[in-house]
Amino acid sequence: MHDPYKIWLSEVILQQTRVDQGLAYWQRFVERWPTVQELAAAKEDEVLKLWQGLGYYSRARNLLTAAKQVVNEHGGQFPRKHSELLNLKGVGDYTASAIASICFSEAEAVVDGNVYRVLSRVFGIDIPIDSTAGKKRFKELAQELIDPSQPGDHNQAVMELGATVCTPKNHTCMLCPLQAKCVAFATGRIGSLPVKEGVSRTRDRFFNYLYIRSAKGIYLQQRVGKDIWQGLFELPLIESGKSSRKSSLLKALETDHGSGWQVITRSDEVKHVLSHQIIHAVFWEVEMPRKFKVPAEWKLVPHIQLVNFAVPRLIERWLEQQASR
Ligand code: ADE
Repeated sequence: MHDPYKIWLSEVILQQTRVDQGLAYWQRFVERWPTVQELAAAKEDEVLKLWQGLGYYSRARNLLTAAKQVVNEHGGQFPRKHSELLNLKGVGDYTASAIASICFSEAEAVVDGNVYRVLSRVFGIDIPIDSTAGKKRFKELAQELIDPSQPGDHNQAVMELGATVCTPKNHTCMLCPLQAKCVAFATGRIGSLPVKEGVSRTRDRFFNYLYIRSAKGIYLQQRVGKDIWQGLFELPLIESGKSSRKSSLLKALETDHGSGWQVITRSDEVKHVLSHQIIHAVFWEVEMPRKFKVPAEWKLVPHIQLVNFAVPRLIERWLEQQASR
């Protein structure tokens, strides 16, 4: 199976999740859009819906953009060279190397988290993998090692070794075909390699979601702007600088939407951890003022239609809880 469309899809999905979880996503994508032409004609909302749960939703939007590029700029054929593949939206060195090597036998080394781990251990290299120098060094080393007669298999074998044997924890060195050559194994450094420079600081954000009870459905709003979850739907939101009590939420409601709001209940805080942010979410059941003019962005979605909207996991979980009450 060397169809570059399908390989590309799988590599983009596998950047977000492990093979056991990613497979079902890949199957749904391939079934819904069997060719790049069909994906290029898809609606963004539907692509986001099938991507739901994988996170980093810009990747889903980039998929659609890249599919359109392949159709409009390359006559529906994926470019064959690493250097050309890089021009596709969302395709970086990793994805370009994977497609070029697996589909077109170009000797271009793939470097992902698995490869960093395998190489840092086998060669005993402690340059931080998240530093500029580290990235350069590991790419060069991987490039020296690649087997030009089978670059696709070589790349996939190294990744597979990292995913199954040379794992972050519970590594099974006893089963490793490279054990005899492995510097980290010989020197007892498996647990301390690879080295990471610094985990970047995370930011705390406080989301207050407004739940307005109605027999007709639930109000949702689409996220816009350069921020997390762009294009996804959520409950109407008031973001605050710190955790809100009833009085501060009422004040914020008044500032944003006028007076006359009632707060009925406040949920416990739900912590939702993203790569660089921790979202502290509270779901407030509120009653709108009698003569409230609902903002145009708020969409009253009937309960049975909720499944058609792409929502962040945080919201999906809350909706599931409501349904099971
Ligand atoms: N992980 C991500 N892509 C992979 C591939 N092509 N082979 C093995 N493991 C992978």
